[in-house]
Amino acid sequence: VGQNLVTIKQVDSTNSFLKNLLSNSTPVPEGTVIMAEEQYAGRGQQQNTWHSEPGKNLTFSLLLKPHFLAVGDQFDLNRAASLGVYDALQPILGEQLKIKWPNDIYYGDRKLGGMLIENTIQGGQLKDSVIGIGLNINQENFPSGASNATSVKQILQKDYELTLLLSEICNCLEVYYLKLKAGEVDFVRNTYLSRLYWLNEVKSFESNNRVFNGTVKNVLPNGLLVIEDTKGQQLEFNLKELKFL
Ligand code: BTN
Repeated sequence: VGQNLVTIKQVDSTNSFLKNLLSNSTPVPEGTVIMAEEQYAGRGQQQNTWHSEPGKNLTFSLLLKPHFLAVGDQFDLNRAASLGVYDALQPILGEQLKIKWPNDIYYGDRKLGGMLIENTIQGGQLKDSVIGIGLNINQENFPSGASNATSVKQILQKDYELTLLLSEICNCLEVYYLKLKAGEVDFVRNTYLSRLYWLNEVKSFESNNRVFNGTVKNVLPNGLLVIEDTKGQQLEFNLKELKFL
């Protein structure tokens, strides 16, 4: 991953750019990384936009071809990608780094970055996976609407070399991807769970206009989050159904 690196000065979204190449049947080798200095229409999860100060942060997409994965196991790609980013950042940032389900990267209770993973399925098989990653690295100020955002610079008070970190992320992510490929799925799932923000803690959630307290217990193979409510009932949620309060 990352051997074939394309850097673009300005693009709408690296995910859209890579998806366009694929839909035009342009041959793109697995592991290709498209990195942008500036995205003017960066996309986040759940139709959100992703803002990032030009030249300061990492905004890139990489292509995987996980033909070996069952469609029902595609959440394992979220796990591998989150763990790759985690492992690259952990030596720099330490124990406060966490993965927030499904694939946000948190430092304490602030968001350092996130991912938008877009998979194509053809003939009931996973075909291409575009893994878009946005991480706040050297940005110092955030708009008031992003009040829980933070960056490596805000944490360490110094600049960090973007391409160095990018190659570290690619190497770490590849380790987990190859584990999936080798069938070591349980290792990837258990490691993901052990890095999860709020695991076994009581927190407030909102679903269906109902606020409740519960404990994050597990993430199912298909990616659903399991929360145990105060009556001991285990409830399963997807991202659309749940708000963290
Ligand atoms: C989120 O936290 O909502 C996900 C943010 C994902 C942003 C990255 S930046 C590179 C890639 N291109 C995009 O348009 N989005 C992802």
